[in-house]
Amino acid sequence: MPTVWNAVDFVTTDSTRTALVQRSYGVAATVKPDGRWNNAGANPVCVTVRPAKVLGSVLVILVLGLAARPRSHPPGDDADPSAGLSSQATVPAPVMSTVRRACFDCHSNETRWPWYSKMPLASWLVERDVTAGRGQINFSNWARYNAFDRADMLDKVCDVAFSRRMPPRPYRMLHSEARLSDTDVAELCAWSRQEAARLMENKS
Ligand code: HEC
Repeated sequence: MPTVWNAVDFVTTDSTRTALVQRSYGVAATVKPDGRWNNAGANPVCVTVRPAKVLGSVLVILVLGLAARPRSHPPGDDADPSAGLSSQATVPAPVMSTVRRACFDCHSNETRWPWYSKMPLASWLVERDVTAGRGQINFSNWARYNAFDRADMLDKVCDVAFSRRMPPRPYRMLHSEARLSDTDVAELCAWSRQEAARLMENKS
């Protein structure tokens, strides 16, 4: 049966010569089309490459490598509890509890890491959210923001809660406790407006 050269994928080398290797779908690669192997009187080097197998091995190695990676989530950068929102401002208990359950996972150093955040890929997604969220607002570092920044953040907090932009939808789907009721939003906004106004008056 003549060899059908449907694709030449790469060139391989043994100690003495180079052969073209054909992607094989069960048919072993044989001789070069120019027939040089036959002239040399040597057996052709037959290499069977199964792309699916190679890809599978690469994936297994990748996943094992990721899983074996030592797990450490990005730590909060400030362990001082007195820098947190509740120490820096007077927050009504229901508002504090709303923010804690709906926002703290991504906007504080008190992230409750879910079990899947230890898994490859998922860990990457979760950590990315937490890092980006903390970068925008970190309620644990409230002391670090000046009055103007705080007022600006409070304004946005009400805004994104009211429009349900936050918490992000995928997170809401996984964390039913983080869904905001109309009452939650009303209380949050009433407080954040009042606190923002107070900050701009006192510049404290
Ligand atoms: C799953 C993680 C997560 C949760 C939970 C979460 N956020 Fe965010 N938040 C983010 C990320 C990521 C960003 C930055 C990217 C963006 O703006 O979408 C962000 C950005 C923000 C911003 C800045 C938006 C802007 O336009 O400047 C505000 C304000 C905010 N979040 C408020 C909240 C509030 C309030 C809650 C709780 C009711 C909350 N977030 C819950 C992840 C989260």
